[in-house]
Amino acid sequence: MGNLYQFPGDFGKWVNQLQETYGDIFELYIGRERNIWLNRGDIVEKMMMNSTRNNIYLLRMNPNDGLDEMDLTTKGLAFNRNLDNWELYRSVLNKSLVAPEFQKETLNLVQKTFEEMEGYWRKLGPNAIIDIPQWNLNLVGDVIIKLTTGRSPYSLTTYFNEAYKGEKAPYPRSTPWEETAKILKCLETYFTAVQYFLFMPSVFRHSLFYPMTWSLLKSINWKQEKLKEIVKDRRQEIAITDDSEPLRADVLTMFITANTGRSIIGKTTRDDQARPLRDDEVEAILWETIGGSIDVTAHVLGYIVEHMSRNPGAKAKVIAEIDSVFNGNTERAITLEDLEKLNYCEAVINETLRLIPTGPLSFRINGEEDVIGGRVWKKGTQFALNYHGITTNKSDWTDAKEFQPERFLSSAAVKKNAFLPFGAGARGCPGKKIAYDILKTEMALLYGKYEVDSIDPTAEIKYHFNVVNACDSGKVYIRERNG
Ligand code: HEM
Repeated sequence: MGNLYQFPGDFGKWVNQLQETYGDIFELYIGRERNIWLNRGDIVEKMMMNSTRNNIYLLRMNPNDGLDEMDLTTKGLAFNRNLDNWELYRSVLNKSLVAPEFQKETLNLVQKTFEEMEGYWRKLGPNAIIDIPQWNLNLVGDVIIKLTTGRSPYSLTTYFNEAYKGEKAPYPRSTPWEETAKILKCLETYFTAVQYFLFMPSVFRHSLFYPMTWSLLKSINWKQEKLKEIVKDRRQEIAITDDSEPLRADVLTMFITANTGRSIIGKTTRDDQARPLRDDEVEAILWETIGGSIDVTAHVLGYIVEHMSRNPGAKAKVIAEIDSVFNGNTERAITLEDLEKLNYCEAVINETLRLIPTGPLSFRINGEEDVIGGRVWKKGTQFALNYHGITTNKSDWTDAKEFQPERFLSSAAVKKNAFLPFGAGARGCPGKKIAYDILKTEMALLYGKYEVDSIDPTAEIKYHFNVVNACDSGKVYIRERNG
């Protein structure tokens, strides 16, 4: 049992400490909110159901005035309380992410953007310290924003120009980069805002802490205006594109044309709700697709480079696998078939996500009274799912704190629901496949071509919680393998 007054600073780490003290189920009050924390795979089984029918665990949160103030409870996916709308949006998003054009374009963009990053690394010279999480946030940001909106934010260029004075790289002249680049910065503020509005009682938000509330709302309003403009512009472009011309396969176009005659993704699942989406609906799910994908994916590579530097045996296997699949040539176009062969790389990604899941927490409420963990819980109980606690629980994992990718080479060795870095079931992550595609491509490009060594492979791997577990380590030296 605990409450917010005992909070030592980092929410994610605190919850893991509470698990060590109080066990796999405990109760915690955050403000007036009571949450029952669940920290072991078998206890969360009912919440991981795939079907939406007779699923009493589809909602994440009880009514919350902070989320209302952020306009999140009637819009978007994550906290929308209208399940019919959520199901429609989820179906549109799921179909968009599995579209073959989209998956191919993902690999193409990761490869192209990685090449751009290598150009900047060359300018920095061989002795530069490369901060992998920061470079990768900008790389994944460029890739995801282009894939979702069709526009390039040129975040890598901005990062290079800001971080390395005197070495300015040119922007393509026709791009309104100044505006879109801000979207990436806005994301970090947005994550802070979600935690703040979720847990800070209204009475404090509108008195003592009003300057903070005002500043967060200002940032939210800016991104809202930007999204409005992006969606409106694209709708107009589509309207003046001749019906015979194929449309660009970005996520925004798929959202705008869903359930219309120009749809690229076919009809959504339920006939009774197969309707086109309004602009405000498109804006909300577009933002959540961007927000839900960049940081969680990008930080994983920071942890991977640290694990590889600490585990030379695993690193040698990664390099051998990449060399055998690509025959030493990762300059050629990487395909989905190549990625399917990278089994050991996938095991490394899994083990990295097991030890520090980048999306460590989620929530569910029960729509009816139910038994969880051997106890009866009344309708509307809010459960907090500690995915980090689950993926490192000693009762499900031998040597739970050790880095052993081999455990993922046999699926029988992984207990049901013990590995949930993407959640699972109807509310599980819709971007899991894209995340593996991005990360495997990046590993092939990085380890296929470079020797990558942590600047301090003996130090503890550092991270902090801001909705995602953000990697504060991951600084490396790199040199070309054949150089
Ligand atoms: C390594 C990368 C990623 C990790 C670790 C991750 C993790 C998660 C987790 C833990 C959840 C909550 C699941 C639950 O409540 O049970 C989630 C939801 C979500 N993720 Fe991911 N994710 C990743 C990449 C992506 C990508 C690439 C996209 C989109 C392209 C994406 C879009 C979303 C969305 C929209 C939701 C909310 C779904 C809903 O509320 O119905 N994620 N993700």
